[in-house]
Amino acid sequence: MSQPLDLTAVPPRAASTSFKDAWQAKLERWYAHPALYRWSLSNPLTRWLTRRRTRKLFDLMAGFVHSQVLLGCIRLDLFRSLYQTPASLPQLAQRTGLAPAVLQRLLLSAVALGLLEHRSQGRFGLGPLGVPLAQHEGIAQMIEHNHLLYQDMQDPVKFLHNAWSGGMAEYWPYAHENSVPPPTAEVDKFTRYSQLMAASQGFVVQEILSSYFFDEHRCVLDVGAGKGRFVSELAAHAPHLKFKMFDLPPVLSLARDNLQSKGLTDRVSLHPGSFLHDPLPEGADLITLVRVAHDHPDAVVRQILQKAHAALPVGGVLLLAEPMAQPEEEAGQPEASVDAYFHFYLLAMGAGRLRTPRELQSLMQEAGFTHVELLPNDMPIHARLLLGRKSKCLPYVDEKSVN
Ligand SMILES: C[S@@+](CC[C@H](N)C(=O)[O-])C[C@H]1O[C@@H](n2cnc3c(N)ncnc32)[C@H](O)[C@@H]1O
Repeated sequence: MSQPLDLTAVPPRAASTSFKDAWQAKLERWYAHPALYRWSLSNPLTRWLTRRRTRKLFDLMAGFVHSQVLLGCIRLDLFRSLYQTPASLPQLAQRTGLAPAVLQRLLLSAVALGLLEHRSQGRFGLGPLGVPLAQHEGIAQMIEHNHLLYQDMQDPVKFLHNAWSGGMAEYWPYAHENSVPPPTAEVDKFTRYSQLMAASQGFVVQEILSSYFFDEHRCVLDVGAGKGRFVSELAAHAPHLKFKMFDLPPVLSLARDNLQSKGLTDRVSLHPGSFLHDPLPEGADLITLVRVAHDHPDAVVRQILQKAHAALPVGGVLLLAEPMAQPEEEAGQPEASVDAYFHFYLLAMGAGRLRTPRELQSLMQEAGFTHVELLPNDMPIHARLLLGRKSKCLPYVDEKSVN
């Protein structure tokens, strides 16, 4: 790997005491004992627990099949075509050009996974998990895009030895290269990822708009703004705001067309540049960083945060929104498995990583932000939100590091 990766700071509570270590070793021996397995299944009080654990393990083994069933349904356009119009096996076989006996395996698997449902007269309709897939183009695009990641990870150990040799690293040109501006041949890559980001940003934007009041602000600078979907939706949500957008030059030329078509050119100014080499423009009293920090190593995140601090007036606010690792207070909740996806996605992409809210909070404080807090929001799987304020011009000094 050409660039060293940052290590995640393991929270101190996760470190076991020797008593806990001994207890966990004992549990491991119990779990491994064949007699315990048989006993727990014969006991009505423990049977559910053993069945649940076996089920979870089976699901882990079958995960690849599950995601391929999902991708198969997307590629055959089943979710959109079945929305409000259930269809029979022969009708679907005709539409997809697949033999009924083969297609039936896919449909029954999709029913088993909650993506489709049996309807009257032998027809198939959308299941509870299929409905959002029919409605949100961004989810379908992300599922199709994940195919690249799964190709890269086909041999997981080979992947860990050289994570940046596959399609994902090629897809994200900025995440492991410092070449700015890009060669013209690369411009297509910027268009491709910017389109995917715009399509998939809707849920994140919803989390931000429903968790933070923008009334106190006049002007928002969105750093890593992409094609401007967040800015466009915030402009409709808060008509008093003006905006600045900062991103790499090829991305902002795509944004220009987008803003023009929405009639927003009077309210938005564009500032092409790279936060690796350029300062951020001044004049905004709120800076937003949406799904940007996790793409970059700690050294770059420090640089972005310091530049954001320097660009804000005293009293200005930084809002950072992105998927974050599950905080230790929430340990044991089922959402933890989401972290596994992001750890591998970000590794395949480049030098960034999934950080806990606490890690990001300390990086923000290091850059000089005070009153740093995690805003509660409804759907942390899409993004968590951190807020910090610039309360003075001098950077924050951690007293512990001075003494
Ligand atoms: C993962 S995308 C997120 C885009 C958008 N904020 C969203 O949530 O959809 C990260 C954005 O950061 C931009 N970016 C990456 N490196 C950059 C750099 N050195 N300077 C400025 N922008 C950069 C990318 O072009 C991209 O638009």
